[in-house]
Amino acid sequence: MFNVKAAVVIWASIGLSLAQTQVTVNVGSTLQKIDGFGVSQAFGRAAEFQALAEGPRRKGLDYLFNTTTGAGFTIIRNRIGSKGADSILPNSPGSPTADPKYVWDRNDSGQVWFSKEAMGYGVKNIYADAWSAPGFMKTNGNEANGGYLCGVTGQTCSSGDWRQAFANMLAQYVKYYQEEGIQVSHLGFLNEPDYTTSYSSMRSDGAQAASFIPTLSKTLQSNNLSSVALACCDNMGWGTTRTTASALISAGMESYLTLLTSHNYNGDPNSVISTRLKTWQTEACDLQSRWCTTWYSNGGACEGLTWAGKIATGILNANLSAYIYWQGVEVNQQQASSYLVLSDGTEVFPSGRLWAMAMWSRFIRPGAYRVATSGSVSGVSVGAFKNTDGSVVGVLTNTGGSSQNVKLALNGFTPNAAGAWLTDNSHQVAGVEVTLDGSAVTVAVPARSVVTVKLTEAS
Ligand SMILES: *[C@@H]1O[C@H](CO)[C@@H](O)[C@H](O)[C@H]1NC(C)=O
Ligand SMILES: *[C@@H]1O[C@H](CO)[C@@H](O)[C@H](O)[C@H]1NC(C)=O
Ligand SMILES: *[C@@H]1O[C@H](CO)[C@@H](O)[C@H](O)[C@H]1NC(C)=O
Ligand SMILES: *[C@@H]1O[C@H](CO)[C@@H](O)[C@H](O)[C@H]1NC(C)=O
Repeated sequence: MFNVKAAVVIWASIGLSLAQTQVTVNVGSTLQKIDGFGVSQAFGRAAEFQALAEGPRRKGLDYLFNTTTGAGFTIIRNRIGSKGADSILPNSPGSPTADPKYVWDRNDSGQVWFSKEAMGYGVKNIYADAWSAPGFMKTNGNEANGGYLCGVTGQTCSSGDWRQAFANMLAQYVKYYQEEGIQVSHLGFLNEPDYTTSYSSMRSDGAQAASFIPTLSKTLQSNNLSSVALACCDNMGWGTTRTTASALISAGMESYLTLLTSHNYNGDPNSVISTRLKTWQTEACDLQSRWCTTWYSNGGACEGLTWAGKIATGILNANLSAYIYWQGVEVNQQQASSYLVLSDGTEVFPSGRLWAMAMWSRFIRPGAYRVATSGSVSGVSVGAFKNTDGSVVGVLTNTGGSSQNVKLALNGFTPNAAGAWLTDNSHQVAGVEVTLDGSAVTVAVPARSVVTVKLTEAS
């Protein structure tokens, strides 16, 4: 990193002769609040990670959470299990009103360990999400293969209405985490409710979710857990999230919920969904490729630049407040790129996808606001953010084939120091030169790269 104070750079001397394109950053004009970026270690991936030797385990944790050497993630997404030893309520109490026999192993498939490690790096956003209710609470008697929570709109069971019992179980899960010193900050009760599959899955449309949300909200309140923010509905993609959102909004659910949550499997977030709720991309990944670490080759599904583009579109065009990739660290899963960091048990390998997320996550910290920009640069999307510590961050995502010189002119902010970092095929969040001149900074943004600029104000 270079801290250049009012320096004059002779572009010719470093071989650049491009025209500058100016973008104005209106620091006083705030848009959505940013909660952060992160991953999950659901379905036993936390326990596998925990079981690594101390060397690779620490290296993996640093790649995820360290703000100097890794992505600096600030959100984790844990799975609330729904069957057998995976669940805090493995057996039916017999009826919805009978006393439930909860079981707590203080481990939760390694997620207690993972949550504590994340907290050690300062993570405060812990999103706990149920993929399904236990089978005995559902119309199909199975935690897998779809089915509905007994008692939601249009769905009845001979065993009764299990909505309150499911709400009680979710509150108990949050309390067990509290006992371990972990504060669940966000709670969801659905995962891909518009999809039926052979592992934990439960159906729900927006109206059915709305027939449960007030019960869950009231149950959190009566358990002194009203600080836990409610999320819904982790739909398969942006299209179904939009449909679900309109049902939730017309049922008055904006007053109970904090987050509208989406996955990207049948549609990436690319346009605003009109709601006063924050929107989070809570799960996104490449489900097609073998493990790859590539930044850019041909725009393939596993490449870092591909994900840099998706994140930029989500934050800048779809008003996202958070972006969560599916899994973080996996061990010996060379057949997949649905995660960011691979360990073979000895070594640990980051991917271009990790560095794409790092270009946002390391610099734009929870509580930051996106701020308005005007002007455009060919091939480059420009996002600007103001952190709670007063620093201003610009993320320049160049998906085009030509290098650009970008001048960011700041309105309402007088920087006295600037740093810039580059990720492309030969750099991973590497410090590069940036020129600060009055209230403007100029930086070179190579073809197919991301450059993040951070400015601090005169004090
Ligand atoms: C949690 O369980 C996993 C197996 O699922 C085990 O490897 C790990 O040591 C356990 N962790 C704790 C803290 O008990
Ligand atoms: C992050 O990594 C740096 C460099 O290895 C190290 O000094 C620092 O302690 C790490 N931070 C945390 C929170 O572990
Ligand atoms: C409710 O929670 C707050 C902090 O979250 C705690 O200080 C208080 O003691 C709790 N009250 C009860 C009745 O558990
Ligand atoms: C963006 O989301 C916020 C909530 O985080 C909302 O208040 C704001 O109106 C949204 N912006 C647009 C353009 O819809």
